[in-house]
This record gives sequence, structure tokens and C-alpha cells, in this order.
Amino acid sequence: MSEQTIALVTGANKGIGYQIAAGLGALGWSVGIGARDAERREAAVEKLRAEGADAFGVPLDVTDDASVTAAAELIEERAGRLDVLVNNAGVTGGMPQQPTTVNLEVVRTAVETNVIGVIRVTNTMLPLLRRSASPRIVNMSSSVGSLTRQTGPGDETGPLSNAYSPSKTFLNAVTIQYAKELRDTNILINAACPGFTATDLNGFRGYRTPEQGAAIAIHLATLPDDGPTGGFFEDAGVVPW
Ligand SMILES: NC(=O)c1ccc[n+]([C@@H]2O[C@H](COP(=O)([O-])OP(=O)(O)OC[C@H]3O[C@@H](n4cnc5c(N)ncnc54)[C@H](OP(=O)(O)O)[C@@H]3O)[C@@H](O)[C@H]2O)c1
Repeated sequence: MSEQTIALVTGANKGIGYQIAAGLGALGWSVGIGARDAERREAAVEKLRAEGADAFGVPLDVTDDASVTAAAELIEERAGRLDVLVNNAGVTGGMPQQPTTVNLEVVRTAVETNVIGVIRVTNTMLPLLRRSASPRIVNMSSSVGSLTRQTGPGDETGPLSNAYSPSKTFLNAVTIQYAKELRDTNILINAACPGFTATDLNGFRGYRTPEQGAAIAIHLATLPDDGPTGGFFEDAGVVPW
């Protein structure tokens, strides 16, 4: 098996995921570019390779069992193991999301991608991660899912959202559950908040660059063996649940 660290980033064809892949590639890692659209995936892989990264395309729709299984088979064949999984793919689910009028499809879409997708990908990749000497899992969450911040003074968790924000709260809870089950293994799993970052997700209204948004995920992907697990972090430190 290769000495080179092998990572998979979901939703890596653009935005924060692309920059996470670029950052991990700059460390000399081999990085799987998980993306559901063939053209967007290959364009990202080409661009990353042109920048010097050892990137390879991984067809991956996190909402599709067969796609995720095929992605694990591709990584197994290529590398025989996985060292780092970054569950970055995410959607708002659509707008508007006023609690009293929200379309249930909007809620379903957010949960299907942001929560069930993460569980599906994580569980499918776990056998490969267990073969790594230092497995790391990073779940891209958001501080808008922080119940403490939503209910605290000076709430900065954005507009009312009965799909996206709760899906990230759900993802945080799921992250804790994994950390509890995996406590006695060498797998470290944490949730990250990138901050309000200019990407397609918010019509580029964010004030942080994708490079800045990617930094916390790269930090959690490269934790030492005695690093934290079951936590929620942003650049400034711990995010309250
Ligand atoms: N931007 C922010 O301010 C912000 C703040 C907090 C948290 N986040 C989180 O950061 C992560 C990245 O978001 P972003 O801002 O970079 O958004 P983005 O530019 O819209 O990128 C989202 C990525 O997820 C992919 N994706 C969506 N559904 C997918 C599916 N079913 N299967 C595979 N890939 C899928 C998209 O692929 P396509 O190109 O095919 O759609 C795209 O590559 C998300 O989890 C988001 O919730 C973002």
C-alpha cells in the first residue's frame, strides 16, 4: 500500500470543497475529488493537477447508495485504504424556509444530503478508513446549526431556516454519536464551521474566501493522533453546540 496519504473530499468540484482538496493536495496527498457531475468533476481535477496536486476524480452522489458503493470500490482499487474523509457536500435544500410555510421537500432535500448523505458515505468508507494508521473524518457543518448561538444574545445565525440550519444541528448530533462509538479506535471525527464564505450556496454573499473557509477542515483533517474527537470547531476555536 502507498505511503502517500489518501483523502476523499465530497462536493469537491467547487466552493469550499475545491479549496479543501487544493489544500490537502498541497500537502502532497493524493486527493479524491468526489463530485456528482462528470464535467464539473473533470474540470476540477484538471485544474488541481495543473496546480500540482495529485488529484483523481471520484464519481459520487452522496444521496445514491450505488454511487457511494462504487466510489468506495474505486478508492479500494486505487489505494487499498482511505486516510481522510471530508464530508463537505451540502445543500440548502431550497428557499424559502419559513418554519410555518416550508415545503416538506425542501426539508427532505436538506436532510437527505446534509445528514443521511454523510451517514451513507461515512459508513461505506469506514472499512477503508479502518485500514489507515491515522484515520480522520471531518463533517462540514455550520454554526447556523448551533442551538446555543441561535438562542444566544446577538444571534448571528442568519435568516429563519427550517431545513438547512436544523440539518446542520442534526449533523452535529450525528458527529457526536460516531465519536462515541469510535472512542476506542484511532479514528478522530469532528464537525467544522467554515464561516460565512462566498460560494454558490449563498449567492456569493459570504465575506470569507473559499480558501479561508477551507482552513478549519484542513486543520481537522491533519490532526495529530492525540487530537480532539467529537468536537465542533471554527478558526477561532470551539463552536458551542
Ligand atoms: N458557504 C458558506 O458560507 C457555508 C457556511 C457554513 C457551512 N457551509 C457548508 O460548507 C459545505 C460546502 O458548501 P459551499 O459553500 O462550498 O457550497 P457550494 O459551492 O454550493 O458547494 C457545494 C458542493 O456540494 C456538492 N453537492 C451537493 N449535493 C451533492 C450530492 N448529492 N452529491 C455530491 N455532491 C453534492 C455540490 O456539487 P454540484 O456542483 O454538483 O452541485 C458542490 O460541489 C456545505 O456542507 C455547506 O453547508 C458553507
